Amino acid sequence: MPTPRIPDAARREAERLLAAGATSREVTARTGLSAGSVSKIRNAGGGPPAPAAPDPVPEAAIEEMRKAAGPPGEDEWEERPEEVWDREAAKARKAIRKAKEASTFRWAAPGKHLLLTVLSDMHIGGALVDYDRMRADAELIRDTPNCFAVLVGDQVDNHIKHRAAMLNGEMAPGKQYMLFEYWLRICGDKCLVVTSGNHDDWTVAHAGVDVLGRIVRDRRVFYSPNEAWLELAVGGQKYTVGVRHQYRLNSSFNQTHSVKQWMRLGDREFDVGVIGHHHEAAVESTLYRGRHRYVARPGSYQITSGYSDQLGYNHSVPTCPTFLLRGDGHAITAWNSLKDVAESVRAVTELGVK
Ligand SMILES: [Fe+2]
Ligand SMILES: [Fe+2]
Repeated sequence: MPTPRIPDAARREAERLLAAGATSREVTARTGLSAGSVSKIRNAGGGPPAPAAPDPVPEAAIEEMRKAAGPPGEDEWEERPEEVWDREAAKARKAIRKAKEASTFRWAAPGKHLLLTVLSDMHIGGALVDYDRMRADAELIRDTPNCFAVLVGDQVDNHIKHRAAMLNGEMAPGKQYMLFEYWLRICGDKCLVVTSGNHDDWTVAHAGVDVLGRIVRDRRVFYSPNEAWLELAVGGQKYTVGVRHQYRLNSSFNQTHSVKQWMRLGDREFDVGVIGHHHEAAVESTLYRGRHRYVARPGSYQITSGYSDQLGYNHSVPTCPTFLLRGDGHAITAWNSLKDVAESVRAVTELGVK
């Protein structure tokens, strides 16, 4: 294809501009000629010669750069991305399976019926803790046939999140855990399941060590941080119990509101749901999807604290909601505490109810 001829007028104007020191780009813009045509005019002597190319980088320096970059094709990472991906995928599969499955304790309870008592917020080592009642409840659990305990967090005060609170506390976390182990022994090892609470989780967050998990697993207690499920066979009946330390959607006017929302919005249905953390006791029977269920919140053995006092919370009552799961029919009866079970049974017997 023949090269288009450069019009004379445009050529002359380009030569004039180049001679005046204009750049190729300026000439292109002013004359409407293509960059190639301007270059041709410049090379033919129109204007000053283009600046010489800079000195090339010495070959020795290029060789040093090559050496620093490593052999050709080698990545900056030690492993190939597909290896890292496969390993992370395998780890994630295991963690997802564990998250879905590892929180469930499945058990065929012995005996005709089962008494399950749920304790929370013991806060061993905190201020104003009712150690007498805590011990009495442990002894009741130990001495009551077919009665087993579930703990739902804040077993010890472990105030390591707030340095000042820990420094001003009377008992170091190590000693608190020692007393917690002692309490488990008083229980006669009738504790089935333990979850962590926010106070227990502070050690995990700050030190990366789950001290509570280590203690209870050593004692062969089923441990699941934050939330646990019990799928129980009692006689011929099956019951699902869900427990967790905290949940969203709390109401200061209705302590069981949060438990009911968990029942409605959560992944799993339950016959009994218990949530700790709020230190205000409540036990309520409710009908949901045609079945009677119980929603409850334990109190706390820590009667009050500087924080509670400051914010105007009422004093706590150390209650441990207790549920009789019957094996001769799907029926649940509940009390505010294990102590109430024996007392109400005695009173009913005195009335002559048979
Ligand atoms: Fe608590
Ligand atoms: Fe808590």
